[in-house]
Amino acid sequence: MTEDIKKGLLGIVVDETEVSKVMPEINSLTYRGYAAQDLCAKCKFEEVAYLILNGELPSEKQLKNFEKVERKERNLSKILLESIKNFPKKSHPMDVARTAVSIMGLEDKETKDNSPEANLRKVMRIFAKTPVALAAFYRIRKGKKIIKPKSNLSFSENFFYMCFGKVPEKEIVKAFDVSLILYAEHSFNVSTFTARTITSSLSDIHGAITGAIASLKGPLHGGANEEVMHMMNKIKKPENALNWINNALDQKAVVMGFGHRVYKSGDSRVPTMREYFSKVAKVKKDKKFEKIYDIVEKVMIERKNIHPNVDYPTGPTYHLMGFDTDFFTPIFVISRITGWSAHILEQHAANKLIRPLASYIGSSYRKVVPINQR
Ligand code: SDX
Repeated sequence: MTEDIKKGLLGIVVDETEVSKVMPEINSLTYRGYAAQDLCAKCKFEEVAYLILNGELPSEKQLKNFEKVERKERNLSKILLESIKNFPKKSHPMDVARTAVSIMGLEDKETKDNSPEANLRKVMRIFAKTPVALAAFYRIRKGKKIIKPKSNLSFSENFFYMCFGKVPEKEIVKAFDVSLILYAEHSFNVSTFTARTITSSLSDIHGAITGAIASLKGPLHGGANEEVMHMMNKIKKPENALNWINNALDQKAVVMGFGHRVYKSGDSRVPTMREYFSKVAKVKKDKKFEKIYDIVEKVMIERKNIHPNVDYPTGPTYHLMGFDTDFFTPIFVISRITGWSAHILEQHAANKLIRPLASYIGSSYRKVVPINQR
């Protein structure tokens, strides 16, 4: 083997992007030059979605227009709605999201049109309809009636309304909005790279997002927020946390919600999400998970020098908000559709087929022996 292989493309720069960057000089993830935490403090999710997709923060008029289109596109087709009703109730909601976007691709009149204008129109449809499809499944699998979206509610408010039948306290909605802002984009992560790879063959946006959802589902990527909750449920109470995490590390376990390919001394999104996790815990009058959180984090840093990633605080935050654990990664999806889409548009604008090489370590040349002589 002579080639210098970088397993997992570790440290390899494969393309350029204008969408986001972790800026070491401000120790922050930035979208189009704006620090994610600054956007959390001053914007609502729709403004950030607009920024990621269009490159600039919207004016009031541009935001109104953007929201109008998103709200208008919230309705699901009869075929999609009927399909969701017939999905196996035990399906993982990530598979529901993947299949729903795939069905949207069957129905969209512009599926084949990869012009930037058509792609932006399709993004708005996928962006608006995916939360509606997920919320419909959320209700159906519990044997409850589907709640239609309401066009006077914001993106976040509407998601709560469609899942639970009501909009919660404003602190809860804000915390959810913040989580969506923090989840919206993160450069060439696994799912985004998947979307760009699919796009590089000049395939369509529904296919690219379908593939990205499949990629996000894995526990080493977006699926980690669900695993964090499973871990916290296993720990059960703060008194067990110290022993649990020490045992896990003694057994060389991978602790979900910790570590990151890019951040080695802490994910810049964590302090903001930690703050909103605390606000939600206060509203819900439940400090148990915060206590477990702090103990596990302290041991991970002390023993391994490994810091939490954004999935660590979002897991228990979504749990306190009342979402089922298997809906945590789908919530990541409804936000990351913006980042994926911006990258898909960028890939189309300066496309080069993504086709790496491999170092062959298989058998040397041999002749085929006919089946009756083998
Ligand atoms: C996301 O890329 C993105 O931007 C992703 C994301 C986004 O916004 O899109 O930020 C979202 O996916 C966050 C990551 C969620 N995944 C997890 O929380 C799963 C647990 N974490 C890991 O398995 C791991 O840290 C990764 C997958 C996130 C990163 O993997 P790397 O860069 O390939 O590093 P590695 O697994 O090779 O770890 C290096 C060392 C190893 O030890 P040694 O073999 O060198 O002795 O660190 C150890 C690992 O064992 N390590 C951990 C650990 N993470 C790393 N040990 C215990 N628990 C962990 N979580």
